[in-house]
Amino acid sequence: MKIILGPASVSLAEKVAESLRLEKIPVASRTFPDGESYVRLEKPVNDSEAVIVQTTGPPQDTRIIQLALLADAAKRNGVEHVTAVVPYLGYARQDKVFLQGETISIEVVARMLKTAGVDKLLTVNVHQEKVLAKLPFPAESVSAIPLLAGYFRQKGLAGAFALAPDKGALHLVEEAKGVLKGECGFLEKQRDRYSGLVSVEKRELNVKGKVAIIFDDIISSGGTIVATASILKDLGAKDIFAACVHPLLVGDAEKRILQAGVREIVGTDTVQSSVAEVSVAPVIASKLAG
Ligand code: R5P
Repeated sequence: MKIILGPASVSLAEKVAESLRLEKIPVASRTFPDGESYVRLEKPVNDSEAVIVQTTGPPQDTRIIQLALLADAAKRNGVEHVTAVVPYLGYARQDKVFLQGETISIEVVARMLKTAGVDKLLTVNVHQEKVLAKLPFPAESVSAIPLLAGYFRQKGLAGAFALAPDKGALHLVEEAKGVLKGECGFLEKQRDRYSGLVSVEKRELNVKGKVAIIFDDIISSGGTIVATASILKDLGAKDIFAACVHPLLVGDAEKRILQAGVREIVGTDTVQSSVAEVSVAPVIASKLAG
């Protein structure tokens, strides 16, 4: 098995390759003046199996096209089985038709990847696990939450309250609680389907005088964390941290979150980010090793 270093995830792909002692296939990539993507495998693959590590965070469309082109290039190089390791699976939040006239974006993306040559997909903390069963190839998601929670435990924050902004993230804080050994809970979040604005409903939580860590799969605009942190402040939390697997941190999200009273934002390297303190390489490598 060889590892193809997708241009969006070179450093993570190198970590995975080193940990599994696999040969790396570098990729040349560029964008034509008109915006089209170009990729080229810089070495012959010479193997029946290849893993392409390529995240699909911003700019998602370019990253997805690069992945599709790489899968096709691998197949043209004689590879029989391509596993796409997509640490952040873009478009996974549009996993159903919410408003009449919409599409199921993640299914369209997956069909395109399958046609291009992807035979199997591995991702990290996909937004909803159930979407994976609807993809046209075997797909699995591994969790980075124990690694994130371990980061806080090493910082001396064992016993912290792990809070989910909504019920959909409850499984994340239950996992974090297993490592932090404190309490966990969740709030109720609503997002306006037209404006995208987030509101989080206040509920009684046992956080007064405690350290609280908000766990979510994605931080995008930061609206969810800002609203959740404001409730934690009202409830008297002593210190507030934010942890996420995929720190997209669009625009001034980081600044707004810190201004909302969050002491530190901690994310993983599923996407490139200044807050990517935790690498997901160990969970990916261990899954690929079987
Ligand atoms: C959505 O349900 C996700 O789990 C995240 O809560 C959401 O993507 C965060 O987005 P934002 O940072 O824009 O509020």
